[in-house]
Amino acid sequence: MPAIAVEGLRKSYGGVEAVRGLSFEVAEGEVFGLLGPNGAGKTTVVEILEGYRRRDAGRVSVLGVDPAAGGRGLRARVGIMLQECAMPRALSVRELLELYAGYYPRPRPAGEVLELVGLTEKVGARIRTLSGGQQRRLDLALALIGDPELIFLDEPTTGFDPSARRDAWEIVRSIRTLGRTVLLTTHYMDEAQSLADRICVIAGGEVVAEGTPETLGGRQTAAARIRFVLPGGLDLAALPMPARADNGRVVVETATPTRTLHELTAWAVARELELPGLEVLRPSLEDVYLELTRTPA
Ligand SMILES: Nc1ncnc2c1ncn2[C@@H]1O[C@H](COP(=O)(O)OP(=O)(O)OP(=O)(O)O)[C@@H](O)[C@H]1O
Ligand SMILES: [Mg+2]
Repeated sequence: MPAIAVEGLRKSYGGVEAVRGLSFEVAEGEVFGLLGPNGAGKTTVVEILEGYRRRDAGRVSVLGVDPAAGGRGLRARVGIMLQECAMPRALSVRELLELYAGYYPRPRPAGEVLELVGLTEKVGARIRTLSGGQQRRLDLALALIGDPELIFLDEPTTGFDPSARRDAWEIVRSIRTLGRTVLLTTHYMDEAQSLADRICVIAGGEVVAEGTPETLGGRQTAAARIRFVLPGGLDLAALPMPARADNGRVVVETATPTRTLHELTAWAVARELELPGLEVLRPSLEDVYLELTRTPA
C-alpha cells in the first residue's frame, strides 16, 4: 500500500482553481519531492494531505486513511513542518517541544531532537528571541518530535544558511534510513536532486512531469552539449562537425557524445591543438525544471 495516494484532487478558493485534477502516489519509505513555481498549488495539496484543508473533489489516502476523516489517530502518525507557522512566542524552546510531545503516543526525547536539528544551546531561549533560521530549525524539530511514520516538509530549508541546509539534508537522509516516508516541497533544485527519490512537478494545479531526479523530463536522453573555446586563428567551419558560437564558446549538440567527442578530439590531436575549457554537459535538473514550468510568452 502506498503511503500517500492522490487521485483527481481538486480545490478552488472562490474563483481560483488552485488544484485541477492532480494524481500521484508516494511509496512507503520514499522521499518524494513536490516541485513547482509560486502559486502552483503545493501548499494547498500538502495541507489537504495533512487534514488541514478540505478538498472539493478527488480521492486521497494518507497511511491508508482519508485525512478529511482521519482525526487524532492519523495526526499522531504524521509530522508536519508548515511553510508558515505562528508559534507561541513567549514559550521557551523546551516548553514548546514538550507541549508538542504531549500530542504523540511515543515522542522522541526533546534533547535528542534538538541535538538533531542543532538547537541544543537554545533549549532555554524564548521563541521570540530566535533568528529566522533557528525558528525554522525549531519547526523541523516539531515535525520530528512525535517520531512519525510520515513527515511533511513544506519548504523546510528556506532561510537556512548553507551549512544549516546541508545539516537539514542529513536529517532528511537519516529519517529515510529509518524507513520513514517524507513528502518535501522545495524551490532548491540541488535539494531536490540530492534528497528526492522521485519528483513530481506541478504548475497551475496540474502535474506537468514526474520521475526520478535523473530521468525527469527526459533529462537522461536529452542531447548533450560539448563546449570548448575555439583555438586562435580557427573558423567554426574548420571543425569536423556542425557547431555554433555561444558567448565566446563553441557548442556542439549531439545525441551520441562519446562518438562525437572522439571525432572532435581525434581531429584536434591530429592538428596538435588543445581545446581550452573542453566539457560535456547534460541539462541540469534546473534546466529541465525551467523548461517544464515555462509559461508561454
Ligand atoms: N487561503 C487561500 N485563499 C485564497 N486563495 C488561496 C489561498 N491559499 C492559496 N490560494 C491560492 O491558491 C493558489 C495555490 O497556492 P499555494 O499556496 O498552494 O501555492 P504553492 O505552490 O505552495 O506556492 P509557493 O511556492 O509560493 O509556496 C495560488 O494562486 C494562491 O493564491
Ligand atoms: Mg507553498
